[in-house]
Parts: sequence; structure tokens; C-alpha cells
Amino acid sequence: MTPLDTARIRADFPVLATHQRGRLPAYLDSACTTLRPEPVTRAIAERARAGAGCPGRAYHRLGREATATLEEAREAVRAFLDAGRAEEVVFVRGATEALNLVASGLPLRPGDTVLVTGIEHNSNLLPWQRLARRSAARLRVHRIDVATGFDPAAFARDLDPSVRVVAIPHVSNLCGIELPVADVCEAAHRVGAVVVVDGAQAVGTRPVSVRALGADFYALSFHKMMGPGGIGALYGRADLLDRLEPLLLGGNTVDDATYESPTLAPVPARLEAGVPAADLLAGVVAAIRWVGALDPAAVRAHLLDLNRAATVALLALPRVSLIGPPDPAARGGIVNFHVRGVPSRDLALLLDDREAVMVRHGKQCVHAWYRAEGVPDSVRASFAVYNTLDEVERLTRVVRSVASMIG
Ligand code: ALA
Repeated sequence: MTPLDTARIRADFPVLATHQRGRLPAYLDSACTTLRPEPVTRAIAERARAGAGCPGRAYHRLGREATATLEEAREAVRAFLDAGRAEEVVFVRGATEALNLVASGLPLRPGDTVLVTGIEHNSNLLPWQRLARRSAARLRVHRIDVATGFDPAAFARDLDPSVRVVAIPHVSNLCGIELPVADVCEAAHRVGAVVVVDGAQAVGTRPVSVRALGADFYALSFHKMMGPGGIGALYGRADLLDRLEPLLLGGNTVDDATYESPTLAPVPARLEAGVPAADLLAGVVAAIRWVGALDPAAVRAHLLDLNRAATVALLALPRVSLIGPPDPAARGGIVNFHVRGVPSRDLALLLDDREAVMVRHGKQCVHAWYRAEGVPDSVRASFAVYNTLDEVERLTRVVRSVASMIG
């Protein structure tokens, strides 16, 4: 394995070379959204400059070019996720929309159960709460001790024949743990449940094969993997997508319509209402190419180096506790912590002000977990391939000074 050439990688992100009150920004918030490399912004701009035909419906030259971009992007995502067929890739605005599409379109009956974990991001919890309310299905929450991680045997005990849907994260945005998705799928399929995976935090930091995982649905946002904002994808097994009720109806979703009713188009168009965003799709293709050029083992090793340095320094401080397993190898690029007595917002603002270190604070869009655990909030640093040990050192220096001031 050749280590990542961080200097070369950073050259693709001009914002990292722009000073903020004399300091270079240390962007440690990539679990929220990653920066976009130059090839991605260039691809979007070039596509926009080349013209703006309507993909899939305009047959003039600009329309045909836009359609080619749509088809290229669909095939790129299919290959990236190792899906069987391009038609199993549906473009949406992001993982949140993908999860809402599934939760609003799956037929459930009173008494059916949706099983989720207790560490779900709001986007993989709230849509299921609504589905349960609307269909009189039950929502069952499988609680996880984040310090020890996911226990497949305990999870299996929550899988009874009433469970029709299992919704889990591939990688947790709360604590960085990776769930054994393939094992969960196998167990869920044994009771006849479908598995919906929120892959937002996984893609871009490790290879994903939806076929190897056995996932029935897999949701992602491209802005978390170096791609453009406002676009994501839903992978769905072809037979399940066919049965999914569209979330939106309108242009693109029909083959024909009368004043009374439509004849819906086949998937994926049936689930992609409106004009596809060709400019963003060009950025998606570029992002997949950019991420695909990195050696996954080198990415993993780089994130571990950064996370190990952060973990060792933070755990040595008074008042600091981690959310998640103490071993950084179990947390990918995420270190989420709180400093007793220090509101996370104050610490995040201080980090930005003193060292131009950008982190996320608050309840990390996992409000239910914080409420249930009685943890007020936290500061989360999340690393990507463009981060350096010097940036980690700037993070821990500020936390050290705050923790020792009040300790
Ligand atoms: N889900 C995003 C995060 O974890 C917003 O920051």
C-alpha cells in the first residue's frame, strides 16, 4: 500500500489554501459534507456551459447530450455500488429523500413492525415514525451501547416474523461504527423483512457492493463523497422498486395520462419526477472518478492515523468523554466527544475563532439518542483524505486549553 499523497490531494481543494485570519482552514466536518475537488466543480461548470437540454425527453442535440450525461451517471453509480442493473439506481435529492421515498412507498399493514437501531440519523427515523403512524404498523427501536458497538445476536432477538422492514445505517454518523450489514440482511431475509440501508456515511470512505451486502435498498448523498450538493441516489432491488409507490408524480414519471389517471413509466423514471439535474450529474460522474482513483486501504490507513492521534490526545484530557468505542479503528473518520461543563457550541466557535478548525456541534441530527441517553450535546470532528496531523493537533490544542482551564 502506498500512503496517500496528501499534498497532491490538497492541491485539488483551493479553499484549503485560503487563509482565515492568518490561518489555513482545518476542515474537520466531512461527515456533514465534504469539500468538492476541482475536477468535480469543473465538470459541473463545463456541463452547464455546454448547454442545457432536458435529459430523457428532448431529442435535439443539447437534449441528446444531456441524456447521455444522465445515462453515464446512472451507469457510474451502478458500477460504484456494484448494483446488477443501471435501472436499479434512482436519482433523488439526497439520502434523506431516498429514505423518505422508500418509507412512503412501501406497503405496510397494521401490526407489521419496522425495526430500526437507536443510533439512527433523523432521516432514517422520522420517515419510519410517520409510516408507522399512517399504517398502524409498529416501530421497534433496537438500542445499541455505542461504547461496545453493535451486537448482531442481540439484534437478531428483535427480529420476529412481524418485522417487515429493517432500517439501519451502514456507518453511524454519531460514533463512526460500521454495522455488519451483510449479517443483518441475512438475518432479516430469514424472517422475510426487507433491509433499507442508510449509506450516507459509508460511501466514499470504503468500497460498497450492494450485492455483496445483500441490501434491498441503499441510500446515499453525493455531497458526502466529494460530489455536488442537492443530489443523491437510491439503489433498490429491481422487483422492490417496481412495487414502490412514487413519492412525487408529474413530468418524467408517466408514459401517458388522461384527465382521470396516468399510465406510469417504468422505473427508474417513474420515481424521478421533474427534469433530471444534468449539471449535477456531471459532477457525480467526476466525484465517482475522483474517489475511485484513491486506494481504499490507503484511505483507511490515513483516516486511522488521524483518528488515533485525535483519540489519544482527547482521552488524556480531564472532562472529555468519547461517544463510541475507545478504539479509533472502530470509528473510521469520526471522533465525537463532549467536554463536561462546556457547551458544544461554545467549543466549536472557539475552535473556529482560535485555530480556524471547523467541526460540528450539537446533537448531530441524532436527537433521539441524545435525549434517551441524557447527553446534552457534543463536538464531532470528522476526517477526510485532505486532512493532516497538524490539523488534528490544532483541534486537540484548543480542547486541551479549554478542558484544563475549567478542570
Ligand atoms: N447527517 C449529517 C451529519 O452527520 C448532517 O453531520
